[in-house]
Amino acid sequence: MDLTDKYESENAMQAEACFILPTYNEQANIQGTIEAIFEQQTRVSGYTFRILVVDDNSSDGTQETVNNLIEQHDFLHMITGNKVGLGDAYKRGFHHALTMFKPDVIFQMDSDGQHDPTLIPDFIHQIQQGFSLVVGSRFVKGGSTPEFSLRRRVISKLGNFLVRYVGGVRHIKDCTSGYRCIAASYIEKCNLGFLSTRGYSFQSSLICELVAQGAKSKEIPIVFTQRNAGESKLSIKDQVEFLLNIPKLGFHSHKDFIKYSIVGFSGVLINLGGYVFLTRYLGMAQEVAPLLSIEASLLSNFWFNNFWTFKRRSIRTGVLSRLLQFHLVAGMSGIINYALFFLTYKYLMINDIFANLLGIGAAAIVNYLINSNWTWKRQ
Ligand code: GDD
Ligand code: MN
Repeated sequence: MDLTDKYESENAMQAEACFILPTYNEQANIQGTIEAIFEQQTRVSGYTFRILVVDDNSSDGTQETVNNLIEQHDFLHMITGNKVGLGDAYKRGFHHALTMFKPDVIFQMDSDGQHDPTLIPDFIHQIQQGFSLVVGSRFVKGGSTPEFSLRRRVISKLGNFLVRYVGGVRHIKDCTSGYRCIAASYIEKCNLGFLSTRGYSFQSSLICELVAQGAKSKEIPIVFTQRNAGESKLSIKDQVEFLLNIPKLGFHSHKDFIKYSIVGFSGVLINLGGYVFLTRYLGMAQEVAPLLSIEASLLSNFWFNNFWTFKRRSIRTGVLSRLLQFHLVAGMSGIINYALFFLTYKYLMINDIFANLLGIGAAAIVNYLINSNWTWKRQ
């Protein structure tokens, strides 16, 4: 075997790590970031590094800088496009990397120096231990955000709380971190089209989807330091999208929600039909009949959800405790329905039927989210 053959066969055994670096006006930072990543190559065995810059037509010369570097590095690439948002850039980057380079793992990393490249070997190490989603975490022991303003700290904590408890990722402390290493096979499993988020909230959609696909996660501490130069691109629009996206995180799949809604409608029919039957055929008093018909619809809803909607989930709790939980959630939804009706009708002077519709809609969504993530929580 001559030397080239030896090199090629060794290279064929190497896995590949592809770093996706989104950039928007990072001319002052991008060169340092790229060089610092490649420097880590010598500290990692078993993985060849490749970098894909996703630049959204920066106006500050970022692309010229990257193009100059591409001439010196075989494993450096760039794709460009119009600025839509961070999430959109990541989606294009993932798609390009998966189809063109077929990497084994993909790194997500900021280009502005806020993510310490010397931690790269630690991420790879966790992948080699069998984890498929390694998160650089600001909120585990040893992690921190020393430079965050109070405002940014509150936004970050609150955002994480919502994502964790609605999105079924309670076990992950930092769900919005932008420093991650992910097994490529899990990104391929994710329906990126379903992750409709285009801005920063893509990070939270992605982590929930990866976990729903069965990715085994591990957090390692990071200190989120100050930017080298320039300023954050996090906008109010990103924050609004983040909040609007929260309910969607709890849905996981359209299918469950559609089934749940069908069951809900059948419950309305049973409730109404039961009431007519009890009052018209059995002559029961109008004050008493709803108690029975409501309970009948709750029982039948429970039965259908348990044996149809969520049939395939393996659940830790027993059927009786689920039945109790289901009743509690129903009671709470009733209160939400009434409260929203009362507030919008009384204080916002909204038409009563429309106000009730608002109440019913909000109660139905909350009802689904809690039942799906609590009563029928996956094991
Ligand atoms: N291509 C592209 N398009 N890149 C973008 C865009 C965009 O629309 N918006 C931001 N970027 C790039 C930036 O140039 C930077 O390299 C990286 O994405 C992160 O953007 P920053 O503006 O530096 O974000 P940050 O520091 O405020 O937010 C960081 O922390 C958040 C959690 O608090 C990021 O890591 C986020 O991903 C993370 O959610
Ligand atoms: Mn940043």
